Amino acid sequence: MSHLFEPLALRSVTLPNRIAVSPMCQYSSVDGFANDWHLVHLGSRAAGGAGLVMTEATAVTPQGRISARDLGIWSDAHVEFLERIVLFVAQRGSVAGIQLAHAGRKASTPPPWENRSVTLTEADGGWPIVAPSAVPFDEGCIVPSALSEAEIDTVVAAFVQAARRSLQAGFRVVEIHAAHGYLLHQFLSPLSNRRTDRYGGSFENRTRLVRDVVSAVRTVWPENLPLLVRISATDWVDGGWDPEQSVELARQLLALGVDLIDCSSGGSDPHARIPLGPGYQTRFAEQIRRETGVKTGAVGLITAPAQADHIVRSGQADLVLLARELLRDPYWPLRAARELGQLTPWPAQYVRAAPANTPAYLLGQ
Ligand SMILES: Cc1cc2nc3c(=O)[nH]c(=O)nc-3n(C[C@H](O)[C@H](O)[C@H](O)COP(=O)(O)O)c2cc1C
Repeated sequence: MSHLFEPLALRSVTLPNRIAVSPMCQYSSVDGFANDWHLVHLGSRAAGGAGLVMTEATAVTPQGRISARDLGIWSDAHVEFLERIVLFVAQRGSVAGIQLAHAGRKASTPPPWENRSVTLTEADGGWPIVAPSAVPFDEGCIVPSALSEAEIDTVVAAFVQAARRSLQAGFRVVEIHAAHGYLLHQFLSPLSNRRTDRYGGSFENRTRLVRDVVSAVRTVWPENLPLLVRISATDWVDGGWDPEQSVELARQLLALGVDLIDCSSGGSDPHARIPLGPGYQTRFAEQIRRETGVKTGAVGLITAPAQADHIVRSGQADLVLLARELLRDPYWPLRAARELGQLTPWPAQYVRAAPANTPAYLLGQ
């Protein structure tokens, strides 16, 4: 039986445990560049023992940023600092992953500590936004322009270039962001996709862009490295994207070379009623894993070591992603190992704080 501290093999990459840092926007970049904040933020979570340390949503084009402060990888110049972060994470024995994203109609907003629910106009420092259809996210948001088929091709190409640069930076895991109401999810969901061409209407058409991006990225992302996709398994809205469609999409993505589906939810409709509670999205990871055989990641209000361990032991998911709890405590994995009676490596600098029963070979790593 697998457990939280058992390694997870994904192609040639072995995560040392099943705990991942869920992608979290830091709104701390200028012109998309990573900086000391990202190094310390991601580096401390690697020092804390997470097996997979994933960057925040990293924009594949400047237009695809949620805010002007987002991390980006739309130019070769972005690679250098990311490489430094990847190296530090690897030196800690963790695996560095990058989430590639385009925000679509949810782009061009202020950082959340200002006011998130508006689209910034160009006069206020924003930029023109795009989407599958000219349907705004919410009242007060600017109406996006619908992408032409030629423009869709440029989006696919941007994901490919971003994946190529991610490889150059040394990342060993790439996650395509197709969740939370951002561009790829906007194509999936009938709530935001009103197209009548080959990218809209039927399930096959709405899912085409995600398949195109995955297939194109797979041509540059090496065969021996894992590719993940984050989805919102449901919009939590009648007539929206739902778990049954997620299962079918997961089946198709598995066939295209996706190694793990990271199962989140929501983000398409700001008025959706979401039944928040401990592990409220885990059932989607469980359903998709059971019905398709693809590996899954569970995320959402997972905070207790026993809860995370149970998710893996009971076969609900292969990987557990934590976001806010890892902001509260970057050393959560070290603490969880202790609480669960599991052994895990400790950084040399911290060995005097390690549990007394930690064997010598795990100290000073
Ligand atoms: C500060 C912050 C930033 C986030 N940014 C991203 C992001 O860049 N990409 C993403 O897929 N999810 C993002 N999320 C969502 C988290 O990855 C996670 O799915 C969500 O917070 C639920 O997990 P939790 O209950 O462990 O926090 C963010 C969440 C937080 C709190």
